[in-house]
Amino acid sequence: MKKLYIETVGCQMNLLDSELVVAALRKEGYELTGSTAEADTVLFNTCSVRQHAEDKIYSALGRLKDAKRAMPDKVIGVMGCMAQKDQQLIFKRAPYVDIVVGPGQLHQVPQLVREAREKPGEQRLEVSLGRKEGATDVIKRSHESFDPLRDPTMRPTPFQAFVRIQIGCDKFCTYCIVPSVRGPEQSRPPSQILAEARQLVSEGCKEITLLGQTVNSWRHTEEGVAWRFSDLLRGLHDVEGLERIKFVTSYPKDMTDDVLEAIRDLPKCVKYLHVPAQHGSDEQLLRMKRGYTIAEYREMHDRAKRWMPDVAITSDFIVGFSGETEEQFQQTMDLVRECRFKNSFIFKYSERPGTKSADRLPDDVPDEVKRRRNNELLALQNEISEADNHRFLGSRVEVLVEGPSKKAAEEGDRLQLTGRTMCDRIVVFDGNRRQIGQTLPVAVYDANAHTLFGAVVTDHVGPEVFSLAGSVG
Ligand code: SAH
Ligand code: SF4
Ligand code: F3S
Repeated sequence: MKKLYIETVGCQMNLLDSELVVAALRKEGYELTGSTAEADTVLFNTCSVRQHAEDKIYSALGRLKDAKRAMPDKVIGVMGCMAQKDQQLIFKRAPYVDIVVGPGQLHQVPQLVREAREKPGEQRLEVSLGRKEGATDVIKRSHESFDPLRDPTMRPTPFQAFVRIQIGCDKFCTYCIVPSVRGPEQSRPPSQILAEARQLVSEGCKEITLLGQTVNSWRHTEEGVAWRFSDLLRGLHDVEGLERIKFVTSYPKDMTDDVLEAIRDLPKCVKYLHVPAQHGSDEQLLRMKRGYTIAEYREMHDRAKRWMPDVAITSDFIVGFSGETEEQFQQTMDLVRECRFKNSFIFKYSERPGTKSADRLPDDVPDEVKRRRNNELLALQNEISEADNHRFLGSRVEVLVEGPSKKAAEEGDRLQLTGRTMCDRIVVFDGNRRQIGQTLPVAVYDANAHTLFGAVVTDHVGPEVFSLAGSVG
């Protein structure tokens, strides 16, 4: 058995890509190890969305220098978005790296690793074409990602899986590197997506998460039939045995009535929307080229809440983008206060070479101001998340049990478990291993900003649990 160490940063696309690469390498006789020292092959699946994500990988590579000297036939590979972005620069900064592979060439990893082992010292670079390096069709083909049969053991859990429905992005928000590293937006054919969902369900999968950078912009014409995202949701809803359908990330402008109607009307659709607003000021949204105004975002948000009062909406925000004034930042605070998001991911603006904003807009908000605004927004969001979670005290939620909680303190058969509600809230409760993978009713008796705490409701203990809920809540 050869040993593989793989480290993944970035978004769910990268998690899925790593899963597929591991599946391919297992077929070549690899097993996973958690130690770089012991590994025959070390792979990093990288992200370029912020400087910090890149720094992390370059310093991990730095730490491998001596290990490579001690064990020269250890194959070191850099895959994913930073591989596509930095290409030869990676060999320059870390000359002992053997292979650099973009997200569109991951199917070549087993062969590249084999070649690197056979001919040590020969570096291999396989990446896609840049956005201006050829005819559109040729560029698109060079970015096609691979979705072969997967390794069930690499899934988040045996009953949850990611399904890629769209690759790339054509929105070109001025701050964002994704359109250049992941290439043109392409939607996968519905027949392929449905076949993959059926296959996953036949392997015991109960929940699938559809992935795309602007997942609700998905559309595809197949055999003369034009499918919208809402049609795909309906198609997936008909897959027998599938219990939950999730999708990330949604683009505000494409949250059309047919999409909201489908989510509202289809019981298997999770009532959870991740629709990043990015900013609360129209001037900043324009500089970011997001393609909507705050009034339009607010209208979409209110429509979703009106149609589905229980829907949980989450957002991403960038603070300290070029030219952001204190007043504009306060408009972001206002938007968060008004929309009361279930959660927000908050990022300090990080200038990315090659993007429109790096070329044309100064990165002029000092880092300490970015940090202060980040903390201020985070504190506000945490307050809202906590109050929002407190609404659940004393209520009963349906939880798909994912597995032992992070701090699972096992006591005999009892085990602390974690799972999620239909609106994507994390619930922690005591249970046992047999309950993993089941959907159970849980009574909530405590909550903080990120987690609900509860107890499984069984018919004979129901009243006790509710009196417990009453006493703690
Ligand atoms: N496709 C998704 C987001 C992909 S990147 C969307 O459009 O919403 C995930 C998040 O990273 C973005 O929502 C944004 O908030 C943040 N982000 C992207 N580029 C960034 C940059 N240059 N600096 C800081 N944050 C950034
Ligand atoms: Fe980046 Fe904008 Fe595309 Fe999202 S929609 S991936 S933020 S360019
Ligand atoms: Fe990062 Fe690439 Fe995802 S840049 S956020 S890993 S698409």
